[in-house]
Amino acid sequence: MSRIPADLAVVGISELATPEGEAPRLGADLGRLRVVRDAAVACREGRIVFVGPERDLREVVDLWPGGRTLDARGGTVLPGFVDAHTHLPFAGWRESEFDERLRGATYSEIAARGGGILSTVAATRAVPEATLSELVRSRLDGMLALGTTTVEAKSGYGLSTEDEIKQLEALRAGASGHPVEVVPTFLGAHALPAAFRDDRAAYVRLLVEETIPEVVRRGLAEYADAFVDARAFTLDEARTVLGAARSRGLGVRVHADQLAADGAAELAAELGAASADHLEHVSDAGIEALARAGVAGVLLPAATFFLMQDLRPPGRRLVEGGVPVATATDFNPGSSPCESMIAVLSFTCMLARLSVDEAITAATLNAAYALGRADRTGSVETGKRADLVVHAVPNRRHLVYRFGVPRVRAVVAAGRVVVEDGQVLPRG
Ligand code: NIG
Ligand code: FE
Repeated sequence: MSRIPADLAVVGISELATPEGEAPRLGADLGRLRVVRDAAVACREGRIVFVGPERDLREVVDLWPGGRTLDARGGTVLPGFVDAHTHLPFAGWRESEFDERLRGATYSEIAARGGGILSTVAATRAVPEATLSELVRSRLDGMLALGTTTVEAKSGYGLSTEDEIKQLEALRAGASGHPVEVVPTFLGAHALPAAFRDDRAAYVRLLVEETIPEVVRRGLAEYADAFVDARAFTLDEARTVLGAARSRGLGVRVHADQLAADGAAELAAELGAASADHLEHVSDAGIEALARAGVAGVLLPAATFFLMQDLRPPGRRLVEGGVPVATATDFNPGSSPCESMIAVLSFTCMLARLSVDEAITAATLNAAYALGRADRTGSVETGKRADLVVHAVPNRRHLVYRFGVPRVRAVVAAGRVVVEDGQVLPRG
């Protein structure tokens, strides 16, 4: 039998757990993982070339001279997390609003008096692009140390052509050369900017005629997103903006049914969106439409928790309805100031009621599907990019059971060891 050459071997893995394939996992298959005890992984030139029992590795893999061995020291290996929904390039935090909410104010009330998203718009407009790209870079380091190797990141705190472009340029600069793969999304339809308060149609026109064409011309986004909500955009406005984006070659995502059943999941299905996200209030018809169209349903249970919404995210309903279910942080300063996919795993199990194995698939393979990347990442198997994480726990259940505390020991991104002993390694 011919031997497999490799430049990196990961050994000493007590348990390796991964979904498999390039298709999203649905229904009863969502929680079907390949689990290998006493496992090893080998990689070559950024790709996985072997996954199996460590004793087989010795039989079939040849480590090249100069290749390295990473000892997992009894840790558990999972695919790198794919965080399919974040609002990464923002400036300023909103902890004072959090205090107000603890005293009883609601998210919508705070938004209605000019706080909320618009206060982050003011803070983000006020910083230079270079400051914003530094923030992006340091946040990506933080996410990497928490085991995230692919992250979607939205604009939406600029709300003018110039400021949206600034956010997306800062994102591109901050992500350049970083081990975390960044998937950029244009979210100009996030909130109505104050200057357009009396002329909503003019803002929609601006997005369609000026901002989207410029974003596309500069190659700054892969997707466009819109927030459908009583305080943001109507279904018709979102249809116009996302339709324009789609006709210029962007993929589509929707902030859907977060605070009420708005019919936004149905819109996502109608547009052939890559994902419909939030879905706290999704209707049964919305779930059916998503399943029929193969639109990923992205749970954001950290936002449900942080907004103290008195409901359960519709995890089980989506699974049972045959929707490809993913889960993500929604990292942003207002509704989810949390960049930890480990925390999200716990919320996904305890609030949305997925099993540990279902939540793992939702945070990896299905999230990669939601970002159009399930052929490349989201699982630890031969042929995929070598994105994997060593967690310092004896088995995968500990990630959720000992909730809230990350225990990332090492991260491999595209075949390079980029985190060791929990520290992001300096990049030369
Ligand atoms: O996904 N829902 C709308 N947008 C964000 C919140 C943004 C903010 O509050 O700044 C979300 O939850
Ligand atoms: Fe969001």
